[in-house]
Amino acid sequence: MTAPLLACRDLVCGYGRPVLEGVTFDVGPGEIVALLGGSGCGKSTLLRTITGLLPPLAGEVRVLGAPIYDLDAEARGQVLRRTGTAFQQDALFGSMTVADNIALPLRELTDLPEPVIREMVRMKLALVGLTGFERRAPASLSGGQRKRAALARATILDPDLVFCDEPSAGLDPVVAASIDAALLQLRAVLGMGLVIVTHELESIRAIADRAVMFGRGTLCAAGTIDELIASRDRDVYTFFHPRSA
Ligand SMILES: Nc1ncnc2c1ncn2[C@@H]1O[C@H](COP(=O)(O)OP(=O)(O)O)[C@@H](O)[C@H]1O
Ligand SMILES: [Mg+2]
Repeated sequence: MTAPLLACRDLVCGYGRPVLEGVTFDVGPGEIVALLGGSGCGKSTLLRTITGLLPPLAGEVRVLGAPIYDLDAEARGQVLRRTGTAFQQDALFGSMTVADNIALPLRELTDLPEPVIREMVRMKLALVGLTGFERRAPASLSGGQRKRAALARATILDPDLVFCDEPSAGLDPVVAASIDAALLQLRAVLGMGLVIVTHELESIRAIADRAVMFGRGTLCAAGTIDELIASRDRDVYTFFHPRSA
């Protein structure tokens, strides 16, 4: 299957008033695409729109081939169930163990027997480097460990496409690198596509195949990371060569 996992066409998104206009890009199977741009430019707003939470003001969003906002709630839910989202705030439930947090989508959406659920949780924890963390309370985890637990939960149903909002924001470089490693490991094993909002240049270079950049209310550049690094567009150049400014 070569159809895009995500296709945005002339998308306008915002809250009554547009935040971003003219957003057209695709994410192909197994691709990691970074969404870039300054604080407040609309990255999280776009993410809300492509994850089914904020209807677009105009244009089309296709997720896994389906025009999600043309579907009824039931059919849209079926499509979105094949995606996973790790929000900017990791949102683990503090009253539940790490294992119960990660098992939540399995318990809510499947009839799998308990031993199978436990094994699936164990495997996902191993993939994100948290072997043996099942019985821990979220509050006892470091920031980076919580992010990785949230990734395990976002991928517990083996999604085809995963959305991640600033997974390594505010973390030190070593911890950020451990998040990158977890994302690459998940992609290697699950073959999923990934849309990731990030400001971290190191992380973009390490894991992204392509990037889409936003500014001044619109999509202002898109390409492979090598193409963008070589770009002479002023804003793109400044982003990829911060020390030259
Ligand atoms: N719930 C909301 N209602 C109205 N405006 C919002 C809401 N959330 C964000 N905004 C506005 O939308 C713009 C883009 O915000 P956001 O998408 O969070 O940017 P980014 O994630 O790129 O930092 C900002 O001007 C912000 O104030
Ligand atoms: Mg944001």
